[in-house]
Amino acid sequence: MISKSQQPRRCYVYMTLPGETKPVTAGRYELGPDRSGVPLGRFVYGRSYLARAEAVEIDPVELKLAPRLYETMLLNGVFGALRDAAPDYWGRLVIERALGKGPLGEMDYLLQSADDRAGALGFGLNEKPPAPMRQFNKTLDLEKLQSIALAILKDKNPVRGPEAEQVQKLLLRGTSMGGARPKAVVEDSEGLWVAKFNRPGDSWNSARVEHAMLCLAKACEISVADSKVVSVARRDILLVKRFDRERTKAGYLRHRMVSALTLLRADGGIQDRAKWSYVLLAEELRRLCAEPRKAAAELFRRMCFNALISNIDDHPRNHAIIAKDRDWKLSPAYDITPSKQVSLEHRDLAMTVGDLGRYASAQNLLSQCNRFLLDRPEAEAIVARMEAQVGGSWHSVARKSGVTVRDCEAIKGAFVYPGFSFGLQVA
Ligand SMILES: Nc1ncnc2c1ncn2[C@@H]1O[C@H](COP(=O)(O)OP(=O)(O)O)[C@@H](O)[C@H]1O
Ligand SMILES: [Mg+2]
Repeated sequence: MISKSQQPRRCYVYMTLPGETKPVTAGRYELGPDRSGVPLGRFVYGRSYLARAEAVEIDPVELKLAPRLYETMLLNGVFGALRDAAPDYWGRLVIERALGKGPLGEMDYLLQSADDRAGALGFGLNEKPPAPMRQFNKTLDLEKLQSIALAILKDKNPVRGPEAEQVQKLLLRGTSMGGARPKAVVEDSEGLWVAKFNRPGDSWNSARVEHAMLCLAKACEISVADSKVVSVARRDILLVKRFDRERTKAGYLRHRMVSALTLLRADGGIQDRAKWSYVLLAEELRRLCAEPRKAAAELFRRMCFNALISNIDDHPRNHAIIAKDRDWKLSPAYDITPSKQVSLEHRDLAMTVGDLGRYASAQNLLSQCNRFLLDRPEAEAIVARMEAQVGGSWHSVARKSGVTVRDCEAIKGAFVYPGFSFGLQVA
């Protein structure tokens, strides 16, 4: 909550337009208290931006291209698309650590984060945007990045002095991505990668298990982000290729990216849970995506896959749409991991699946299949094929991805749990 005495703070919002590698100024964002002290966010597109033939909307639900003042009191005054471009738990921790203070205001997190954030937006205090970020950490820096990340995890208190400088130099330049796991952005000859580090205390080798799940999803006809595992200082690191950046001779193209949380106009908190729904998301995709049928069926497959591998961390920030040009489409799948689940009868996903709420069962998956533009036989065929694929190949895919026998034992209960098929009557 912003105190009454605080002045509104402003920043400029920059956009890297489709096909371009340098940003232009898209508009101005202001965050301040309203008369009763409640955070109020305001955004206007710049006139010169609106006059550009090639101008594109920041997002297709809240900030459409129009010459008007947008206002929001939701999410502490931060528009969903701006929140998507802001650092999350991990990025915020790094910023606090680097500055030696925290927690900071929403505007500070936006302005303090590096320009390697997801999507095509940037933020700054100057009307004219700065030159695009050209220097990225290299894969060769991973050892150092990993050790700083682990040090931050060990001691979350802000520090000053040489360590803060190191965090500033290395980790700050590479952690504007969202999410809670420790991560950094690194570059190699192929382009940019999100490097996700294992945490001490993880139940299994997360890097290898997540890589295996991405491979398994691919085998289930799901479009996924490319990934690989590298070992640095005897620790495994998952590298996920960034799908919102494309290297060209002139620099990086940036694709716009908006999370499902924004599409559902929802908050990340538990109180807004009613809006977290695959069914509602499918309807948003049908409305917004250039190929509605393709997007809705792809979402159905992802929901089904998450149920079959007990990925209960499938919340709306782990789904997104992207736009390389004008058209929006579902982004490749990312952040897919099995969870440790005890119940054999009943498991819930994070989002509503169908008539039986979040219940991860075939019957529930099929109950609203028409909202995904699938008829019942088509949907049944997808579920049956995927159930066979996951059940029959998760182990070999995991072993091929370097998951140890011990870790396979630890995750095996996640796949095709008995409750998945309860109550199912196939015609
Ligand atoms: N391959 C990718 N390309 C572009 N953005 C990505 C990619 N993978 C993840 N992201 C973005 O980074 C955020 C954090 O990544 P994620 O894998 O979800 O990490 P965590 O496990 O910490 O939640 C995601 O919510 C998404 O916005
Ligand atoms: Mg995530």
